[in-house]
Amino acid sequence: MQSRPKVIGRRRFCLCGGEQVRTLLAMPSRCRTLWVTGTDTGCGKTVVTAALALALRKRGVDVGVMKPVASGLVEVEGGLASPDVRFYRAFLGLADPDELVNPIAYAPATAPSVAARLEHRPVDLMLIRRAFTELCSRHEWLLVEGIGGVLVPLSDALTAADLAAAMKLPAVLVARAGLGTLNHTFLSVSALRAREIPLLGIVLTPTSRHPDLAELHNPEEIRIHTGISPIQLPGVPGVSVDLGEGDGLPQLVDGLASLVDVLMGGAAA
Ligand SMILES: Nc1ncnc2c1ncn2[C@@H]1O[C@H](COP(=O)(O)OP(=O)(O)OP(=O)(O)O)[C@@H](O)[C@H]1O
Ligand SMILES: [Mg+2]
Repeated sequence: MQSRPKVIGRRRFCLCGGEQVRTLLAMPSRCRTLWVTGTDTGCGKTVVTAALALALRKRGVDVGVMKPVASGLVEVEGGLASPDVRFYRAFLGLADPDELVNPIAYAPATAPSVAARLEHRPVDLMLIRRAFTELCSRHEWLLVEGIGGVLVPLSDALTAADLAAAMKLPAVLVARAGLGTLNHTFLSVSALRAREIPLLGIVLTPTSRHPDLAELHNPEEIRIHTGISPIQLPGVPGVSVDLGEGDGLPQLVDGLASLVDVLMGGAAA
């Protein structure tokens, strides 16, 4: 049964059913794309996206990045901006304007569905579509950073995973390396597979300076239960999205080589 538009605040909130979203976002993609999603907020999506962009550039590929929906804006010169976009701009030297890189931005640090309701401004799929199409026409590859985790809600009827499925984006899943990650990772992988989103890799980001027992054994456990051997990134100094530090990013590039091989070869991990 199809859901009908519902009034939230003074705006009509499109509770599009899956078929409507697919039609709205169905677009011929002129570039190669990857959705960098994660098990959670703060798990390392921006760091991995930026390092992956540097790794692809090292292979001679022209890469653009996009954060379709951001929440939790910070003050920058001239107004509010997403810390992730500020990070990309500083360390990837992006030339694309903010309205393309981050077409939808909400000030409150909440899930997008909540921020949209608080600001009486629903997630506008047409804005995402237009920015995505334009960035795709400018670049060979487009890395699309998710918001929060795989199933974070964008509206009452749409999750981030639904959007990625409609846009036909293959995914890489970023997860924390330490204790607790197995459950989060398996739930996220299940949600991706339920939507037939191709999963090209799993990247684990460090939880502590000195890996504990869980961190040492989790990669093998993830391989056994998902069939994907995760990449385990080292913890490097000089990387903080919140503090706007990214000088350590180049040290992460070599660790992503096997994922770049998969991306360039177009095969699943
Ligand atoms: N390999 C790494 N080495 C050192 N620090 C790291 C590494 N990966 C992630 N971090 C730390 O984790 C923090 C959070 O990472 P990041 O901002 O990329 O997460 P996120 O998933 O993009 O968060 P959000 O949901 O807010 O977009 C970074 O600011 C950085 O301090
Ligand atoms: Mg981020």
